[in-house]
Amino acid sequence: MPTVIVVHSFRRGTGKTSLVANLAALLARAGKRVGLVDLNIESPSLHYAFGLKDSAITCYLNDVLRQACSVEQATYDVTTSLQGSAPGKLYLLPASTRFLDISMALKGDFDSEALDACIPELIENNQLDIVLVDTRAGLTDDTLAAIAMTDILCIILRPDAQDFQGTAVTVDLARRLDVPRLIMIGNLVPKTYNLAEVTKEIETTYHCEVAITLPLNPDMMTLSSADIFVEVNPESPFTQELKTLLDHLIL
Ligand SMILES: Nc1ncnc2c1ncn2[C@@H]1O[C@H](COP(=O)(O)OP(=O)(O)OP(=O)(O)O)[C@@H](O)[C@H]1O
Ligand SMILES: [Mg+2]
Repeated sequence: MPTVIVVHSFRRGTGKTSLVANLAALLARAGKRVGLVDLNIESPSLHYAFGLKDSAITCYLNDVLRQACSVEQATYDVTTSLQGSAPGKLYLLPASTRFLDISMALKGDFDSEALDACIPELIENNQLDIVLVDTRAGLTDDTLAAIAMTDILCIILRPDAQDFQGTAVTVDLARRLDVPRLIMIGNLVPKTYNLAEVTKEIETTYHCEVAITLPLNPDMMTLSSADIFVEVNPESPFTQELKTLLDHLIL
């Protein structure tokens, strides 16, 4: 059975999109057929990470959800964005950056049934092994719909008091929704902090599994949005950390 992994955070800018893009690249390098869904309808950016320009997109996830096009029409094969050839595949459902679409998506009721139908279709159309869903920060209808259908929920947070408090609400909700596997990921930890202590603090605060705590990596910060860290730095210890995280997630 293909695994659906939703990456979420309470606050913006915790590293959701970067994590999804990097894990997807590693998975495709490992020969997996990967689906990518940009559910950040407020601030979409996943397609930029794979070099997919808006001018090349005719249908978005937003169009699928309002039944204006099929899942197939809104699916883009972005495998060639990886350097050289990869044995796996990457299929992306981008979210719209059009002003009207964003404003409609933010105002309107989110059709969770349409999302429920869309992901199995994406899996079936492309014979996927795994689907990664990037979300928007905070608890909104679209995110709740994704959390309700995921196999693994990864909640990513920074070592910051406000983030710790807000994240507690999401963790509580995930438990009430009976998410099969809940995983915490610490990210953007300044180098003056002790990573093991931050991990321990996350564990004791939420009483759940911490898959990894990642440092603030200056090389990652200076990357352009069209570059994927693990592709540009395959030998970096940070890439190794992300591979360890992946083993943890899919084993
Ligand atoms: N471990 C890290 N070290 C350094 N920079 C990082 C790290 N993780 C992510 N970043 C950088 O932080 C910024 C925000 O990351 P990203 O866009 O992935 O966050 P996000 O959670 O998707 O944001 P949003 O909530 O706006 O969608 C980006 O510039 C990214 O390159
Ligand atoms: Mg993002």
